[in-house]
Amino acid sequence: MCGIFAVTGPEQDAGSQVLKGLKTLEYRGYDSWGVSVREAGSNDLVVTKDIGKISNVNVPFPKGKEAVGHTRWATHGGVTVANSHPHQVGDVTLVHNGIFENYAEHKKRFLAAGSVFNSDTDTEVIGHIISELLNDGLSPAEAIRTACTKIEGRFSILVMFKDVPGIYAARRGSPLIIGRDKDQTFIASDIPAFLEKTRLVNYLDDDEMVFIEGGKVQFYDLDSGEEITKRDIEVPWKLEHAEKGEYKHFMLKEIFDQKDSIARAINHEDDVLNKAVELLKSSNGTYLVACGTAHKVCLAAEYFFSQISGRKINVVAASEVPYFERFINQRTAMVAVSQSGETADILEVFERAKARGAKLLSLTNVESSSVARMSDVHLPINAGPEKAVASTKATTAQMALLLLLAHADAGKINQGRELLSTTSSAINDLLNPRYEEHIRAVAAKYVDRPNMFIIGRGPLYPIALEAAIKIQEVSYIHAQGFAAGEIKHGPLALIEEGVPCMVLGDELETISNAIELKTRGAKIIGVSSENADIFDDWIKVPDAGCAQAIATLIPVQIFSYHLALLRNLDPDMPRNLAKSVTVK
Ligand code: AGP
Ligand code: GLU
Repeated sequence: MCGIFAVTGPEQDAGSQVLKGLKTLEYRGYDSWGVSVREAGSNDLVVTKDIGKISNVNVPFPKGKEAVGHTRWATHGGVTVANSHPHQVGDVTLVHNGIFENYAEHKKRFLAAGSVFNSDTDTEVIGHIISELLNDGLSPAEAIRTACTKIEGRFSILVMFKDVPGIYAARRGSPLIIGRDKDQTFIASDIPAFLEKTRLVNYLDDDEMVFIEGGKVQFYDLDSGEEITKRDIEVPWKLEHAEKGEYKHFMLKEIFDQKDSIARAINHEDDVLNKAVELLKSSNGTYLVACGTAHKVCLAAEYFFSQISGRKINVVAASEVPYFERFINQRTAMVAVSQSGETADILEVFERAKARGAKLLSLTNVESSSVARMSDVHLPINAGPEKAVASTKATTAQMALLLLLAHADAGKINQGRELLSTTSSAINDLLNPRYEEHIRAVAAKYVDRPNMFIIGRGPLYPIALEAAIKIQEVSYIHAQGFAAGEIKHGPLALIEEGVPCMVLGDELETISNAIELKTRGAKIIGVSSENADIFDDWIKVPDAGCAQAIATLIPVQIFSYHLALLRNLDPDMPRNLAKSVTVK
């Protein structure tokens, strides 16, 4: 989690540049924030930090050409000013993304030797280690490299040293991207932080280190310390892709982006799709792994493959894969689905599966992500930057691409393309202010209810599960999804007068289940292509055949968004969550 950002260059306003860049990374963590500026003249590293969201911050910084900053998603130590980054130990000032898993043993040693700690974080322990190594006579770069040999876990760090100009960074598992603009250089967890200034980037890989000062950029191998060269890449992003534009929230913008993101998701040449299909065909066991919403996408894809190409897929939440590891071998196709491509649980699955000889296929939105770069075959979903914590356009793009892949697997690519193009146009027609207003009015009727249930069958069952995540995540209402046929096996006991139940689809059996709910007092919100007498409210969706799961999810996303607004919540930054979950 967390966003980190550093600037070095000729301008004296590095502090405010870092603050501005960090605001674009707020989706990565919003518990607290902090900036350290190398003050012009004194060379002191002056830290300004506080708890709360960085988007509300507007403070002056001392003049200085170099600064590092952090927006935190707390893992170790509560949300306090003392636990906010940057942390300072002796001459060392650092910010950290990730978890230092074995920090406790090192902290114990320092405490026994009489060191004083100012925070409860794992990060501060890294500061003590680097500072100790400096005092032992190591150079700043050597001190960082040696410290990294002692750290277990996934991390990236930015370090400044008093009296040593320049900024150092090291990566093992959490993203770091270098942006270069003549005599100014940036390091960030994500590109939007410096997109206003440059599109020329280098991606730092795991076990690499970089030193930047003004326009000078030097890359090193973290283990050997040898200098390495990195490829310059021009990213195709435009600033407006990463901004809200006329929309009040990223979530709404990203919901409306689905007017064209589905068409972009399926815009792949046949030979690219066939390469992925070959990987599946050459295996004798396919695992589809992901977390959270992307995991629900995989559950929907399990139906797609079963119905369209007759392939049996094993869908496992990435964090649960270790319990099935004995089945992973050279004949396994390990397929990961991830918006960020940085989710720690997935990275771990990929690393372990690779070591066991499995072939790796991935579908990610961030093309430069660690998951994408580890893969034997990678399919970008091309949804464009997704910043709201609640995934929307990436979800439908993933489903569209997996649906197309299932068609390719069945030798019916063109049929798949046709189906998805028709669905995409129908979604384009659907997404208009009148439709949104109708859904808002339905949400307003139920906004004060503490519980909501959602049912669906077939591929709409995973959509019921996903609907529950969307509602929980942004409105904090307790929501639960069930397979429609399962409610009579237990969940019906939860139904009492007035409980809103969303019924996805209008198949005969599903309507029978809706009647069972209504008989017990539930209010029925039908989300389907046909209206039914049993519905108290009806949200129409186009009839999209095999792509019904995609079409059905969109109004549910709008419903969740409006529940959040009606409850005066910020849908873009739900409490306790962050966009990229780079910790286990
Ligand atoms: C989505 O609304 C959630 N914020 C979350 O479940 C997310 O889908 C999950 O953390 C996976 O992230 P990824 O797609 O970046 O791997
Ligand atoms: N583990 C560190 C902390 O809790 C860093 C968390 C992060 O990645 O934001 O402060």
